[in-house]
Amino acid sequence: LVLVVDFGAQYAQLIARRVREARVYSEIVPHTMPVSEMLARGPKAIILSGGPSSVYAEGAPAIDTAVFTAGTPVFGMCYGFQLMARGLGGEVAPTGAREYGRTAVTVSDGGTLLGDIPAAHTVWMSHGDSVVAAPAGFDVLASTPDTPVAAFEDVERGLAGVQWHPEVLHTEHGQKVLEHFLVDIAHCRQTWTMVNIVDEQVDKIRAQIGERGKAICGLSGGVDSAVAAAIVQRAIGDRLTCVYVDHGLMRKGETEQIERDFVAATGAELVVVDAEKQFLDALAGVTDPEEKRKIIGREFIRTFEAAEAEVLGDAVTGEHADSVAFLVQGTLYPDVVESGGGAGTSNIKSHHNVGGLPDDLEFELVEPLRTLFKDEVRLVGEQLGLPGEIVWRHPFPGPGLGIRIIGEVTRERLDILREADAIAREELTRSGLDRTIWQMPVVLLADVRSVGVQGDGRTYGHPVVLRPVTSEDAMTADWARLPYDLMERISTRITNEVREINRVTVDITSKPPGTIEWE
Ligand code: XMP
Repeated sequence: LVLVVDFGAQYAQLIARRVREARVYSEIVPHTMPVSEMLARGPKAIILSGGPSSVYAEGAPAIDTAVFTAGTPVFGMCYGFQLMARGLGGEVAPTGAREYGRTAVTVSDGGTLLGDIPAAHTVWMSHGDSVVAAPAGFDVLASTPDTPVAAFEDVERGLAGVQWHPEVLHTEHGQKVLEHFLVDIAHCRQTWTMVNIVDEQVDKIRAQIGERGKAICGLSGGVDSAVAAAIVQRAIGDRLTCVYVDHGLMRKGETEQIERDFVAATGAELVVVDAEKQFLDALAGVTDPEEKRKIIGREFIRTFEAAEAEVLGDAVTGEHADSVAFLVQGTLYPDVVESGGGAGTSNIKSHHNVGGLPDDLEFELVEPLRTLFKDEVRLVGEQLGLPGEIVWRHPFPGPGLGIRIIGEVTRERLDILREADAIAREELTRSGLDRTIWQMPVVLLADVRSVGVQGDGRTYGHPVVLRPVTSEDAMTADWARLPYDLMERISTRITNEVREINRVTVDITSKPPGTIEWE
């Protein structure tokens, strides 16, 4: 275990991911955690992240200097580097020069940390203060035009640091520097793999659910819930029931993927609730986006709770009346960190008003992905043999195609959109761009018609909009510059193969100001 101490910048998550990419398990802890508590967890090393402050600023986040003398190796990056310098008697000062972004570093003496790294290379910096004198006992390894001490180490004591951000993409050799620290200075073993994750989680879940407990998991068609369910299935077999609500708003082939491929890959017990009619009836005549979302959300909860009551009925009223009911959720590590959560599991109170379950039934949550990043979840999914379409699926909104039809949602319109969307996805996959494109919604402008010509005849059909975007987290996005020939293939095929569509357009709005979805 390596602990990454978060000093309040957005870099801690990235550092934790990079450490895991080096096959060493890592977790993030807040800088407010007492050092004794950190050490009690027995970390092989501690990494101090960057942070937004100056170490001299009033109220600047600090750390007890005991962290440097406890015998556990420590690596400081950026702000963490300065904390280490100052904490051990070095000197940090505002040099007047601020370095932001790409900076040239000169390695003078590579030492252990920068051993085989080119003498001149480019790194990513973001700091106002600089270390002007290293603490006693440290070797200075590198400098920049404005920073005399840009990297140092004291291998004997297991301490090292760099002024730059080795974790960001733009830093050359960043991963190598990190690995030198982890392996050559802290002597961590590189054993963290996806197989370990699965085995560990299976043991944990068995211990949590016990011999008799029953669990339920809602499948959405996406990767998180599918991987979470597959792990729990490994742990407790058919005491897990997966529930998939088919609301009729899924894309072509997705329900089959769950019904057929997911079940074949995992052997999981699956209940499919065919609720298409119920959802479409509730959506009839509705055009307002917010109203659509509300209706879909409401119907979803109703349907899921009814199914849940049926599945778990005897867990609370039958022969196992004393056993707890568990709800499996695909919560990821970034959600846990962002909500300030640490270890342990939380309880939610489910608001049951359907299906005869007692009002106060408490679910205990099972969250097998709580320690994982999205890319790790995908690797675990592959490890568990889940279908590639599920493992690599693009994000897809809960309300499904219901919010990709501009206008009233009807079965006929859904079928038209499903066909167009399937063609667009097929061509995108064939072009090999699936993993560079974040998402490519296809939107049907169902209330718009335009004139076209096809063969000898005049057409009066609907347009669809392609919305290809690149993004890292969906908070911001840019429109993706798809190759012209790909757009051409998509356009030709859709207008030829989907009779009701006679125009294909591309949305070239970034987010902001546009959102990714149209509704
Ligand atoms: P917007 O349209 O707000 O979408 O830019 C950002 C991301 O969220 C997805 N999205 C949803 N996901 N339920 C979901 O689970 C929803 O109601 C929902 N609305 C939007 C969208 O696909 C994009 O990835």
